[in-house]
Formats: sequence, structure tokens, C-alpha cells
Amino acid sequence: MATRLSIDGADAVLRPPEDGLPHLRHDRAAHLTLEPGSVACADGTIVALDVDDGAALRFDASGCTVVPGLVDCHTHLPFAGWRAREYEMKVTGVPYEEIARSGGGIAASARALAEATDEAVLTQSRDLAGEMLRWGTTTFETKSGYGLSRDGELRALRLADALRERVPQPQVASTALLAHAVPAGETAASWMDAVADLVPEVAAHTPAEALDLYVESIAFDNDALARMGELARAHGLALRAHVEQFACHRSVPVALEAGARSVDHLACLHPDDVAPLAAAECAAVLLPGAEHLGAEAVAPGRALADAGAICVLASDANPGTSPIVSLPLIVGLAVRRYGWTAREAFLAVTLNAAWVLGRSAVVGSIEVGKRADLVVLDVPLDHVAYRFGHHPVLAVVAGGELAWVREDARARVRGA
Ligand code: NIG
Ligand code: FE
Repeated sequence: MATRLSIDGADAVLRPPEDGLPHLRHDRAAHLTLEPGSVACADGTIVALDVDDGAALRFDASGCTVVPGLVDCHTHLPFAGWRAREYEMKVTGVPYEEIARSGGGIAASARALAEATDEAVLTQSRDLAGEMLRWGTTTFETKSGYGLSRDGELRALRLADALRERVPQPQVASTALLAHAVPAGETAASWMDAVADLVPEVAAHTPAEALDLYVESIAFDNDALARMGELARAHGLALRAHVEQFACHRSVPVALEAGARSVDHLACLHPDDVAPLAAAECAAVLLPGAEHLGAEAVAPGRALADAGAICVLASDANPGTSPIVSLPLIVGLAVRRYGWTAREAFLAVTLNAAWVLGRSAVVGSIEVGKRADLVVLDVPLDHVAYRFGHHPVLAVVAGGELAWVREDARARVRGA
């Protein structure tokens, strides 16, 4: 017997202008439609944009907005512990680079990870994934990067893999952030040699789908970025890159040349790099949580959208720069910081974010045939940013199952 779920009578369902799009460039975001409707799911898949009268399980979505399950394509899960003390240092005026140079920052989280048991790391990350689900995230990315040694990175990738079994999200992507900070006793160059030795094992024996690195004065340079691109290409992995976060290093032309799937952060993107990035088959992943909490520059989100970039938003969930797991909050920050519409912000946490993870044929939009990952919001789409901080998620459907229903929405469920 098929498991059938019908989400009935929503005031608005957010849909792409046509089916089958791998992504939608942001100059076309206004073409996303918001019409009244219903969504029928069977065996984990969206089977009709209509009521299913025969469904055993139904959710009354009257007065609600239905959007695709949210996709968080840039997080640093799994990690160990937090760094609240550093946040206080930062807000009282100590620069991040100085915190990092004095043994804080990434190195502090690397120590915490090394000292934590597998069980402790998995429990903390599982709890965060549960919190993410309650904010609407049905697909997320994990990264290594706090391993800071060959064995440490392989352990982080193994933990990321083990996490999949413990979380309610049906889709979890894995990225190997092999060059995050220069490990003690190494130079950037010697560590990149070690990375080159490590990548074949990562490609063959871990579920990592992408390589990532951090380009910054305190981390790696554009030559390392080009080299990571060669390694990614040679091993059939996608290339992602943390670039232009605290200063402009003109890394975007290098990343485009290297065939990057995404360039992430971009708070200090050079104005001359907006048009080439917007024309490229490479996503601009903006991280307004890190920007806001780090009092960083504002990425040129409006210019990128107008120029037709594949714009994406993500939480950057990590214990240092962005201890945020809520994509609705990220949407709220982005709308204010970048001057984006609600449609632009939601496009950036759904279809385009799924494209970054190579999953836009499966998730990211409400289309017949796609995985039944849905979020029922208790407000119109434009209220999510406007009522900043409001928890707008009434229910989450993950893989066709009602994965979470907010207490005050239980009466909307029939047949459970
Ligand atoms: O994406 N920028 C580098 N990496 C992370 C921060 C990691 C940390 O501070 O622990 C980021 O912001
Ligand atoms: Fe990051």
C-alpha cells in the first residue's frame, strides 16, 4: 500500500515558472509563482498538485503558504562544542584574524573535535539537525575542515557519513574542506602537498562529493585554490571555495577558471567580478549570518541578482562565525542586507541551493516527480523576513512523511 499524504488547500504554493529547471538565475526570480493549491504525495514523491481524496493522511493547509523543503548547502556540521567566549571578544572589538592567530578560531574547534568522542560529536550534530528540521531544512551539507590533519579530516568525513543515519533529513551532502586552516607544523604549501596525497583516498573511500578550501590571509591563497580545482577535476569532485570573506583577494576569477560549482561568502567581492560571476555556471553563495554576526561587509547581493547570477543563501552553521541553523532567519537577514524580495530569498534557499549540491533534479522545487520535501508556513511568504525572528514553520514533510508538526498545528492533521 502506498503511503499517501495530501497537503490540502494552501493559500499559496511557491512554484518555479516551469518544471525541470536545474536552477533559476536571480533576474528571473519574479517569475516564481505563488498560487492557491494542494500537494499530493505518495511513496516519498510529489505525485500531483491537487488534493488526493484517497490519502489516508491529510494536512489542512488553509491560511498557509507551502514552499519546498529548504536546502542548506553550506554548513560546517559535524563540529564539537561552541565558541561563545570568542563571540563576546569579537563584539567588544577584537578582530577575528587576531582571535584566530592567538589560538582561537578554527584551531579552537579543531582541538574540541579532537578531544570529543565520536558519540559526543554525533549527538550534538544530530540535535542541531533536529533544530534545522524544525526551521524547515530537509536537505543539508556537511563539511570536514576541523580535522586539521590527515587522520582528523578522514575522521570528520566518517562522522559526517555516520550522521546521515541519525538525522530526520532524507538528503545529506558531504564536502571535504581539506584546506581550512594551516595545521600546526605545516606551511600552506606543505599542507597542500598533503592534501594532494589525501584527495584520492577521500574520493575513493568517503561519500564526499565536493572539495572546498578557505582563501584568506590567515589561511590559503589563490594558487591553492587553483590547485584544489585541479584535484577536484582529476577526481570527479565538485569545487567549492570560501572566498572574499574579510578582504578582497580577487579569488573569484581564479575560482571560475578552476570550474568552481560555487563561491561562498563574497562580502568583499570586487565590483569587476560581479558580471563574470553572474554569467558563469557557478553559484554565488551568500552567508548573511556570518556577515551579520561578524560585522562583515555586505555582499553585493542586489547587484548579483540584477546581473542574473545563480544566487544562493546558506546558514554557514559553525561554532565560530555563524552559530545559526535557521534558514528563515537567514532569509530575513538577506532581504534586509541585500535588498531582496521574498521570492529572491526563497529561490536562494531552495532550487538554487539544491543545484549547488547537485540535487536539483530531486529536491528544491515543488514539481510532480520530485521528492516530497515540503514546508508549511503559517504566514504569507513576505512575512518570513518582515516578522524577523518569528518561527513560521507549522509542519515539515520530508520524503513524503510528516516529519514534524508544530504543537499548535496538530489539529490540522487528519488520519494520523
Ligand atoms: O565559513 N571562513 C572560514 N570558515 C568558516 C568559519 C569557521 C570557524 O570560524 O570555525 C566560515 O565562516
Ligand atoms: Fe563556511
